[in-house]
Amino acid sequence: MKGIIMAGGLGTRLYPLTKAISKHLIPIYDKPMIYYPLSILMKLDITDILIICTEKDIESYKELLGDGSHIGISISYMVQQKPKGIAHAFIIGEDFIGKDSVALILGDNIFYGNNLLNVLQSSDNDRIEGATIFAYEVKDPMKYGIVEFDDNNKVLSIEEKPNFPKSKYAVVGLYFYDNKVVDIAKKLKPSSRLELEITDINNIYRKDNKLEVKLLQPTIKWFDTGTYKNLLDASTFVEHTQNEHSRYIGCIEEIAYEKGYISHEQLIKIANSMRNTEYSKYLESIVREK
Ligand code: G1P
Repeated sequence: MKGIIMAGGLGTRLYPLTKAISKHLIPIYDKPMIYYPLSILMKLDITDILIICTEKDIESYKELLGDGSHIGISISYMVQQKPKGIAHAFIIGEDFIGKDSVALILGDNIFYGNNLLNVLQSSDNDRIEGATIFAYEVKDPMKYGIVEFDDNNKVLSIEEKPNFPKSKYAVVGLYFYDNKVVDIAKKLKPSSRLELEITDINNIYRKDNKLEVKLLQPTIKWFDTGTYKNLLDASTFVEHTQNEHSRYIGCIEEIAYEKGYISHEQLIKIANSMRNTEYSKYLESIVREK
């Protein structure tokens, strides 16, 4: 399965924060935001990853993450010239996806939870057919794609940012699709905001009875960092949780080491390159623990 991180868009909702720097590079506590979605793909054993970003930001991403070889994975980059929507990722990424299935994660989504991986992994990652998406109860459903269920948990509708939401269950920004998603994306018509909507893709799978929607329980934490307050909440959460558990969230170097993608010498080298920071000390402590 291939992985795509969608880090395009102009981030205008966070101006002036994002006027000169990509939204997905600003810090969530001690790491650039994109570390968090990247860490989720790595935890799911997805090691062939495409980052889609704006032309202006591509060099910054390359400087931060390179080709991924320092953490034992492959990262490539493509540009989304105009903010044409999330579903546009499958058209941009057509050659990268090839004949594989694909996981798409939004660059501004942060997930955390003890049983998170079990929930995500129980979706058949190498599925031949269909799509899996996840829903999470939110307080402000008008801001998201919203799923309506019947009494038997069958999905009745998915609506993008509805004025009159039919439930409080938002579709989070992690989606698994079979290879048909590329052709489906190519046939989509732009919405009224002139974007190719991920919700339209999900509705096509739904109408075909090929969509699985899984509920993420409140024990899992999900942040869409779309506002100043969300950013602060996510940073505070990461700081608190890391302090409490003495374990970092979204630490891509640690995951690479645990998965055996890099040796302890390579991890030490990365730690040294981070100078004398808390982050480098954390990486060194992982090697010492082993
Ligand atoms: C996008 C999707 C929406 C989804 C949300 C999750 O919205 O269009 O369906 O619920 O991500 O983060 P955006 O945040 O890009 O407006």
